[in-house]
Amino acid sequence: QATPITVTITGAGGQIGYAAMFRIASGAMFGPDQPVALRLLEIPQGVKGAEGAALELTDCAFPLLTSVDIATEPAQGFDGANVALLIGSRPRTAGMERADLLAANGAIFGPQGRAINDHAADDVRVLVVGNPANTNALIAQRNAPDVPAERFTALTRLDHNRAVGLLAEHAGAAVAEVSGVTIWGNHSTTQYPDLSHARIGDRAALDVVGADWGRGAYIDRVANRGAEIIEVRGGSSVASAANAAIDHVRDWVLGTAGSGGGSDDAAPWTSVSLYSTGAYGVPDGLIASVPARSVGGQWQVVEGLEIDEFSRSRIDASVAELAAERDQVSELGLI
Ligand code: NAI
Repeated sequence: QATPITVTITGAGGQIGYAAMFRIASGAMFGPDQPVALRLLEIPQGVKGAEGAALELTDCAFPLLTSVDIATEPAQGFDGANVALLIGSRPRTAGMERADLLAANGAIFGPQGRAINDHAADDVRVLVVGNPANTNALIAQRNAPDVPAERFTALTRLDHNRAVGLLAEHAGAAVAEVSGVTIWGNHSTTQYPDLSHARIGDRAALDVVGADWGRGAYIDRVANRGAEIIEVRGGSSVASAANAAIDHVRDWVLGTAGSGGGSDDAAPWTSVSLYSTGAYGVPDGLIASVPARSVGGQWQVVEGLEIDEFSRSRIDASVAELAAERDQVSELGLI
């Protein structure tokens, strides 16, 4: 049998951790032949939740699950981690100032970045889910100087999946017919769900749905979908967030779904918040959402897409927000 892949889940006693871990243990992340070892990292207040979930994991008798360990110290929690899902964070609560939010998250993601640097496996891949996800990923990355920067990513796959699902629903098309959708920028309401290169079957998506909707109400709907879920469901997106995290890591490790692992111009892509090396005018070192394919276990930004004036201004606005967040955490001495 293959060597288990060690997956560390932070915030494992919370909602998204709970929704993710059973699917990971069942094989949804790495396929039906790959054993998994789980590490659940929590703070003391959350440990009971993680312990209870671990009892249930035993009761599932998953053939692929080789071990479950619970930790409250990052050094222990990330020891030998091949994949790190950073879900636990300090989201903004009512009345909280932005500087307080960033400082509280710096106190989480700085030490976690250092622990990943010192204790994770050489091939560690990091996905930050906890909000503000892109800037939390930046803090962790800057605190892990020995880990290649491109191993730090943030989750915009939920936004991508929302964008695909809502487009298919509006067009009355099958999800499988939709391709070429991109989420640009920050996982926030400034994000830009871009249909310029999207297709539904063999037609341009903007021809099918019309630019008025595709560059208007659609953008707002995708960007505010999280709030819509909270309003209707009475709670935040949990199962869809866990599903997106699994999609992100599965594509990263096994290759972009549907692409056959290829990188040719026609191969499908997804949206990933990646460490920028300057593509599409995103400043170096920001962790911003771009169109990407995974080939040979590495993300590659889709090259050569034409960016028109409308798209340029939307991308620039969201990237400017990321740059401002970076400047704030820099002023706070967190990076
Ligand atoms: P939750 O509150 O149910 O769970 C969070 C857990 O993290 C708690 O059990 C808490 O004890 C734990 N935690 C806090 N600080 C920790 C630390 N330093 N180390 C380890 N564990 C720690 O929250 P939920 O619903 O699971 O959401 C988690 C995060 O994901 C939130 O920040 C939320 O805003 C974010 N999110 C991001 C999405 C994205 O698309 N990027 C989508 C949906 C949610």
